[in-house]
Amino acid sequence: MTNGLTALVIGGTRGIGLGLVEALLADPAYDRVIAAGRTVGGHAGLDRLTTTHGSRCDRLHLDLADEASIEAAATELQARAPALQLLINTAGQLHGDGLQPERRLADVRPERLLASYAINAVGPILVAKHFQRLLAHGERAVLATLSARVGSIGDNRLGGWYAYRAAKAAQNQLMHTAAIELARRARELIVVSLHPGTVETGLSAPFRGNVAAERLFTPAFAAERLLAVIAGLDRESSGRFYAWDGSEIPW
Ligand SMILES: NC(=O)c1ccc[n+]([C@@H]2O[C@H](COP(=O)([O-])OP(=O)(O)OC[C@H]3O[C@@H](n4cnc5c(N)ncnc54)[C@H](OP(=O)(O)O)[C@@H]3O)[C@@H](O)[C@H]2O)c1
Repeated sequence: MTNGLTALVIGGTRGIGLGLVEALLADPAYDRVIAAGRTVGGHAGLDRLTTTHGSRCDRLHLDLADEASIEAAATELQARAPALQLLINTAGQLHGDGLQPERRLADVRPERLLASYAINAVGPILVAKHFQRLLAHGERAVLATLSARVGSIGDNRLGGWYAYRAAKAAQNQLMHTAAIELARRARELIVVSLHPGTVETGLSAPFRGNVAAERLFTPAFAAERLLAVIAGLDRESSGRFYAWDGSEIPW
């Protein structure tokens, strides 16, 4: 191994996260790419990547809904790799486990609002809380969290999807707030929220019937675009919200 870069992808087991793990492993600048999630053990896709990339492909157990698990994962990772140059948190939820995007006010349920908030907003800021020590090392590092354009209040013209929209809006506010604090003591650490576009994954499957083919991305394309956006970030980018094409999205 050389002194290359280390990247962690939380939610690296499926969808866009797995696409990012594959894309990062294809980049020789990265010595180590760690896929984190609840289902990393005995994972066929990650097993295949380990066969191809050997020890450059690493895994870490992390449940975003459990702060103790996030803290333990950060401690475990620090023992394996003292510094991270890139952390992308892709984990999120739109439907499943009782969650279903609301069409109307009458569909709003307190327990669904809280469940969406737990995974889409609380989890991401706890990742920032516990992994900041691996990212604040005085050299360029990026903490990117996958959000969604529907979380933009300024861009909301369609309505609906109360829980997911509100949880992603909260995620954006939490990450923006962390960016302000971290800029004071970790000036080389860039904190951003990213919108990946509409991507062909389990998350979007029930809702992409009306999406034109040219606007529906593969996870590999989304990963390539997101990594290009990340490569172009500088200190001035921190605290902002960018789409897959590099355009800035209003909060
Ligand atoms: N797909 C789109 O069109 C689209 C559009 C806009 C924004 N986004 C955002 O992009 C991100 C990735 O979406 P995706 O389409 O790739 O979704 P996906 O295919 O459903 O994958 C979701 C990922 O989140 C992980 N995850 C869920 N709950 C977790 C938990 N408690 N702890 C750890 N990991 C957990 C899953 O891992 P497990 O294997 O453990 O379940 C999985 O790797 C999400 O934040 C989503 O909101 C997606």
